[in-house]
Amino acid sequence: MKIPQSQWIKYLFLASLGRADDCPPKTGPYQDYPYFRKSNLEEIREFWKTAISLIKSGMAPKDIGLYLHWPFCASQCTFCFCSMKVPENYSEMRNYVDMLKREMDTLKDLFYEIQLTSVWIGGGTPTFIANRDLDDLLTHLRTSFQFEKASQFYVEASPATLTESKLEILLSHGVNRVTLGVQSLDGKVISLMDRRGQTLESVERALELLSRNSVVSDVDFVVGLDGQDKNSFLRDVAWILKAKPDVAHLYGFDPRPQTLFAGKDKQTSLSWADMFEILEAAEKILLKGGYRHPVWLPETDRLEYLEEKQCGGMTKVGASVLGFGPVAQSRAFGAGSYQHPPLSLGPLDTKKIPDYICFPSNREDEMWQHVVRSLSRFHRLSRAEFKRIFRMDVMEHLFLAERLKDLEDSGFIYVESESVSWRSGDILTRQTALRHLYSMELEQVILRAYQREFVEFLRAFPLDPHGWEEKLRRKVQASALERIYLNVKAAARLEVPCVALK
Ligand SMILES: C[S@@+](CC[C@H](N)C(=O)[O-])C[C@H]1O[C@@H](n2cnc3c(N)ncnc32)[C@H](O)[C@@H]1O
Ligand code: SF4
Repeated sequence: MKIPQSQWIKYLFLASLGRADDCPPKTGPYQDYPYFRKSNLEEIREFWKTAISLIKSGMAPKDIGLYLHWPFCASQCTFCFCSMKVPENYSEMRNYVDMLKREMDTLKDLFYEIQLTSVWIGGGTPTFIANRDLDDLLTHLRTSFQFEKASQFYVEASPATLTESKLEILLSHGVNRVTLGVQSLDGKVISLMDRRGQTLESVERALELLSRNSVVSDVDFVVGLDGQDKNSFLRDVAWILKAKPDVAHLYGFDPRPQTLFAGKDKQTSLSWADMFEILEAAEKILLKGGYRHPVWLPETDRLEYLEEKQCGGMTKVGASVLGFGPVAQSRAFGAGSYQHPPLSLGPLDTKKIPDYICFPSNREDEMWQHVVRSLSRFHRLSRAEFKRIFRMDVMEHLFLAERLKDLEDSGFIYVESESVSWRSGDILTRQTALRHLYSMELEQVILRAYQREFVEFLRAFPLDPHGWEEKLRRKVQASALERIYLNVKAAARLEVPCVALK
């Protein structure tokens, strides 16, 4: 059956609330989603008990990533939207290490027979810490949880803080991938963003250190920063081709309210359209120079290069994530998603286990979510993979099969013997159509939580449907401004995609 117009308007409203590739969503603090509720350690332990028993009985993917958030930085860059703070004194950081250790102790018994498949320490700046405390924290992590030999162990760092001795400690605990926040190499831009201690020399030294120690190197750059123009950004892209980090992340500047930039009520130097145009130009240069978009092939668990154009999200569909520290988002497959409160909600309390917020789920929800996330992130649902995880073909699931048929009848997707994939269609159409794949329960929960906004939308939409669609298109396009490129050489070194939720 074709999707009727009245239904479509409802889906447009749901699309206006944010990305569809995670329901509940991956990005943004969960407290912005009113259908999350307060939780506590006891409930979180129950989530993990359920998820672990599903994993052990082969009823859930075995991928479990650990994410640990280190919120501290030496200074606050004006553009930054991360959950970070400049510590009042060093003992605040030391106390935080102790709190993380205590929190690991509250859960580690549940994981004693479980191998984690990836680790990600993000921030803030995890290399902004005294060597002895870094060693203490990583020792505790390694003795509390077991990692598979092949796990990817990923740490975020700033070039100015990644010293030789710090890298030595990271290596001794098995870190094999480091991402360097560079943002820009333009002296004027660096000084306007108040990014202290970064020079071209510090970036090149840090990259050389990683390469000498065979650590996979990623670099982060941002387009649209204060004082930056197209030429300045394309000079940075030319540097990427010369320096050849394994992975380059290019972000469009997102001036979220928590940035110092937004607080100063400033206008961004480049519009969304400019950023798109510059990213497209950068993409041509990188692809010509030997970089590729990463594409995860779910059947083989490998990252591969396909010539096809694709934005690169790197969270595996169906993976569980065990998070620690403010803003960390956790996901216990088939049981629930929860989050540590971000710093924007209040000062960091290093004395007590935080009040989590959560959204319970079950295995049935995971099926719906798997279909949505596969189509959203990888543009394709593998029927074999669905069957491997859920022990049934997706077209045998009464309700999902009906919804997929509706999408096919409406001309949005192809349902073929191996896979389900998109026909053409722009990003807003796809994000809207994906809402037809929300379970009825999830749709009800969300609409109840946003009842007032929904009524307002139903009133306003018919008065200016084109204006609304344009507004929504810009909003969903914003989420496509993040691009990831891999150096061809990095293929064999990146077999296990990272799992991180923050
Ligand atoms: C947690 S930060 C870690 C980087 C590390 N602390 C450093 O700056 O060297 C992760 C990345 O998010 C990106 N980022 C931060 N704020 C952003 C914003 N407002 N818009 C787009 N990207 C942003 C930056 O590229 C940054 O490197
Ligand atoms: S960009 Fe990195 S160093 Fe700068 S404030 Fe954000 S997390 Fe800290």
